[in-house]
Order: sequence, then C-alpha cells, then structure tokens
Amino acid sequence: MKKRVAILISGSGSNMEALVRDMEADHPAEPVLVLANNPSAGGLTKAAARNIPTACIDHRPYKGNRPAFEAALTEALTAARPDIICLAGFMRILTPGFITRWQGKMLNIHPSILPLFRGLHTHQRALDAGMAVHGCTVHEVTGELDGGPILGQAVIPVQAGDTPETLAARLLPMEHKLYPAVLRRFAMGDRSKLMLAPSGA
Ligand code: GRF
Repeated sequence: MKKRVAILISGSGSNMEALVRDMEADHPAEPVLVLANNPSAGGLTKAAARNIPTACIDHRPYKGNRPAFEAALTEALTAARPDIICLAGFMRILTPGFITRWQGKMLNIHPSILPLFRGLHTHQRALDAGMAVHGCTVHEVTGELDGGPILGQAVIPVQAGDTPETLAARLLPMEHKLYPAVLRRFAMGDRSKLMLAPSGA
C-alpha cells in the first residue's frame, strides 16, 4: 500500500509540484490532498490540473482564533487519512497541539541550513551574515519552530553581488530536488540524513 501524502501550501506551490511530479513515477507514496490557507494560492490550480483533490481553509475568517482554524485544518486532513503531511511553502505557524497530533508524520522545508536562520527572511540574513554557502533543510516538524530532526540539506554557493532574490532563485531548484528525495526515503521508513550539493560543486 502506498503511503498517503497530504501537502499544505500557501502560495505558488512549486515545492508541492516537485513532490507530486516525483510521486507520479514509481514511488512508495501518493498525493491524496493539497490543502491551502489562501484561496488564491497558485498551487491549488497546479494540483487540480494534476487531478489531485484540493481544499482551502482560508485562515482570515479565523483571525485571532488559531484553535478554530486548526480544527478546520484537522477536519480536512482527517478526511484524507494521510500517513504523511508535507508543509511546502505553508506560511502559518502551527500550535504545539496541532503538531502533536501529527508528530512523526509531518515534514517541512525551510530555506536555510538549519539551525542557522530559523524563521523568516533567510536569504537576506544569510547575505547579512556574509555566508559563503546557503541552502535548504527538510526536517520533521516538532513544537520547536524550524527545529525538528533534520532529514536532508542541500547547499548552494553565495555569489558576489547576490541579492535575496537571486539567492532564492538559485536555491529553489535545489529545494525541488531535496524535498522529493527526502520524501521517498521517509515514505520507506528511512530517516537517514541526505546531503545534496550542486553538480560540479
Ligand atoms: C520556498 O522558498 C520554500 O523554501 C519556502 O516557501 C518558498 C515558496 O515555496 N518554504 P513554494 O514555491 O510555494 O513551494
């Protein structure tokens, strides 16, 4: 039986699309739901074009009532019976209560070499720190923001004249390699760490 994967998004869903594309080949998992907190998330259209069930729980009506928002998320997720949840550009903070329910089954991709630069604006912060390398991390989600067990990391060089935008653009293709590779292993129960570097680096 294939592992059932639900993917949570907030925006363009390029990481979601990379995961889904990889699952279209021979793979131990299959996508069963793409769930967005933003009705205009471009990833919803991409998922629907690939005949993947989608749902949207707009977080705005729940403003100030995070537990109610997460109860709605849980209802949609429970209906999909996921074995694995992938956060892929999902931009809402989840409470420890929600995370506990799915702990051990939930992954996230973060655009930095954790534990460096937890939180937001990671590309600017890497430039400000004068890093020679930057990268992304796929980790298990725990109650500690961007702090769960690391499952894989990909690195890229920082180049002279880089801006946050050029750095993000150089990193995204590596995200699209790392996350699917880690999901394949995770779906087979392999939690060994994976490291990717650009070819020829
Ligand atoms: C990516 O940089 C990812 O690392 C971060 O959100 C950005 C957009 O992701 N979490 P996507 O294109 O929506 O997958």
